[in-house]
Amino acid sequence: MAKLKVGVLISGRGSNMAALIRAAAAPDYPAEIACVVSNRAEAPGLGIATAAGIPTAVVSHRSHPDRESFDREVSAELERHGVGLVVMAGFMRIMSPWFPTRWANRLINIHPSLLPAFRGLHVQQQAIDAGVRLSGCTAHFVIPDLDSGPVIAQAAVPVLEGDTAETLSARILRQEHRLYPEVVRWFAEGRIAVDGVRATVAGVPPGATLLFSPEP
Ligand code: GAR
Repeated sequence: MAKLKVGVLISGRGSNMAALIRAAAAPDYPAEIACVVSNRAEAPGLGIATAAGIPTAVVSHRSHPDRESFDREVSAELERHGVGLVVMAGFMRIMSPWFPTRWANRLINIHPSLLPAFRGLHVQQQAIDAGVRLSGCTAHFVIPDLDSGPVIAQAAVPVLEGDTAETLSARILRQEHRLYPEVVRWFAEGRIAVDGVRATVAGVPPGATLLFSPEP
């Protein structure tokens, strides 16, 4: 069967993108990374994608008068590659409502908190400041509201005494790298259904959509 073509949006380091590229290298993985689009020409992730032989494009938000015209150019780039799923992987640009509407139920993000807690920026520091004992990451469908939309899967990690934003980020990131390729696999296998504000994943083992990792 033809593999699902995935477009990845990045702004920086691209470690989640790299995790997806690694997963997609397995012959039985049901998705392929068709293109990587960055809004920043200096994003280190672009070099990783190029080294893996994946087409890349830079669409600079600076060269667009408003959010929607930027969004439309990103969308055109994705369409050019026949993408059926768009995955945000550290894409730090707020889009106009046009983009999540255009890609409704085919646009997924990963966010380094247990949503709906801690939206926006510096969320690991927000979790530390709030004194929560658990944090983690959330893979969710993107809707026009920031860091909102049907939750597909989460991974939880402990927040430990003495954690800094850096140590907590690193612990969460390890789980992001496990979770995101699984979520893309489920999407490609047609297992994910959206009903209003809820997403459900069919035919996966109990607990698969909630990972808990007590590792420090
Ligand atoms: C990841 O932790 C991702 O969850 C976060 O940015 C980091 C990107 O790292 N995304 C957001 O905060 C989006 N709201 P990466 O470039 O190495 O994948």
